[in-house]
Amino acid sequence: MGTTIEGVYADFMRYLMENTQRFFEMTTPNGTEIWARLRDTIVIILATPNGWDIREQAVLAKAAIRASLVTKENVGQLLQFVTESEAAVHYALANQDGDWLKKKDIFAVIDCGGSTVDSTIYRCVSTAPLILKEVCPSECVQAGGIFVNREVRKLFEKLVQGSLFSDPEIIRSMTSAFESDLKPSFDGTMEEYNLKFGSLKDNDPTVGIHKGSITLSDNDLRPAFDLVTKRIIASCFETLIKQRTKYVVLVGGLAESPYVRRVLRKELAKYDIEMIMVGDHWKKAAGEGALISYIKQFVVARAVKATFGGCVYQNYDKKLHRDRKHMIQVYADGKERVEGAFHVWVKKGTILQGTFAHKLPYHRAWDATSMSDGDLIRNLGVVGIEVFGWEGDGVPIWCKDEEGKGVLSGMRHICTLNADLSALAGQLRTKNEPGGKKFYRVDYEVCIYFGGTQLRAKLQWKENGVLRESPVAIMPYVS
Ligand SMILES: Nc1ncnc2c1ncn2[C@@H]1O[C@H](COP(=O)(O)OP(=O)(O)OP(=O)(O)O)[C@@H](O)[C@H]1O
Ligand SMILES: [Mg+2]
Repeated sequence: MGTTIEGVYADFMRYLMENTQRFFEMTTPNGTEIWARLRDTIVIILATPNGWDIREQAVLAKAAIRASLVTKENVGQLLQFVTESEAAVHYALANQDGDWLKKKDIFAVIDCGGSTVDSTIYRCVSTAPLILKEVCPSECVQAGGIFVNREVRKLFEKLVQGSLFSDPEIIRSMTSAFESDLKPSFDGTMEEYNLKFGSLKDNDPTVGIHKGSITLSDNDLRPAFDLVTKRIIASCFETLIKQRTKYVVLVGGLAESPYVRRVLRKELAKYDIEMIMVGDHWKKAAGEGALISYIKQFVVARAVKATFGGCVYQNYDKKLHRDRKHMIQVYADGKERVEGAFHVWVKKGTILQGTFAHKLPYHRAWDATSMSDGDLIRNLGVVGIEVFGWEGDGVPIWCKDEEGKGVLSGMRHICTLNADLSALAGQLRTKNEPGGKKFYRVDYEVCIYFGGTQLRAKLQWKENGVLRESPVAIMPYVS
């Protein structure tokens, strides 16, 4: 009732932060003093599912602000995102003996989780520094650990049918005993497995129950696991083979199952693919890998999945803008311009690496003849540029319709970069446009750069020779 997803995340985050602080202060000598000193510079790294992009990140960022993990001002610097599979790669590289990964190797990360199995394929572009590139979009299949439990519950229902044990409450305790005892140990090497679920008084030889334990045959249990392993094989293997994958890094809770591991290892071996286990039973691959990726500043090259640009007043170009000839306006600087044009900053398919950075000069102009100082300050206070993303091919000419209101179909409004340039009011000189009218002009730059794992944008301008910046906006790189 009235609970938002942002609120739920904010509660979680607050809880985690409070307890992290408590734990840190209790277990670190001089912990309270150290925490207080470093609190405002703590970088929070969130490992998120592979398919998440700016929509989800924006919710998490708002939640993090609401939970006071970061502030509105420092969120761009102190809140970082990394995908779970990327974090797993870093974890696997840091925790494996030998340098298994060589330049040009293709490898995959398969994350066998509770409800989904996600696979991502990377190519190693270079090992020092480590540069990885996603080869193709991640795949996700509904084949996690809960499906094993679902099958096993059906098995229990079938086995105890007609007996006193055919009771939802008892089936539930059997399934929960399976989850904690048998699921982690089942390896498919014995003929029978015992599962303790009740008390010594629970007996019924006709359904294989003896002193609170039920006997299950290998043949009974295998199909429950096979359902999932078969789905994983059916969904991921074709791509693994097609992409000539050399290694598969297996992570996630279900990958801890000795049976699942064995089946997948055997199946992969048929195609000469080697399996790399990271031993993630403490569930550290995502968390620790996220930290490693930040500390070591590993570079992952990514291809931008959409074309990004700003919505601008563009100089009228009859080759491009003929269809809106009737919309030409004479701008304050005397030039003929059209509104709502798409000015491309980064094209779809551009490979981003640590060094990627672009600056684009922009300016705004206002007619000075009728402008009071107050109006000028007000105008300068809200200089902004709307950022749009285009996921299709090619480069559209327009972002918006003729009226400048409706966004064209296929264009996605990402964010608006805003800057308060009002402090410049006193320094601005008027200029003369070709027709002799006076106008004010203010210059600023849009900076687009690859900040570790994300494409970011901000505005920059000079105030009395001092460089100023707007808050940083994060562009989604995945469509
Ligand atoms: N040692 C183990 N042996 C077998 N299965 C295990 C083991 N440990 C955890 N699991 C299973 O792994 C699943 C949870 O895995 P994980 O924690 O990676 O999932 P998740 O990240 O929460 O889910 P998802 O990624 O689908 O959102 C559960 O189904 C659990 O039963
Ligand atoms: Mg998971």
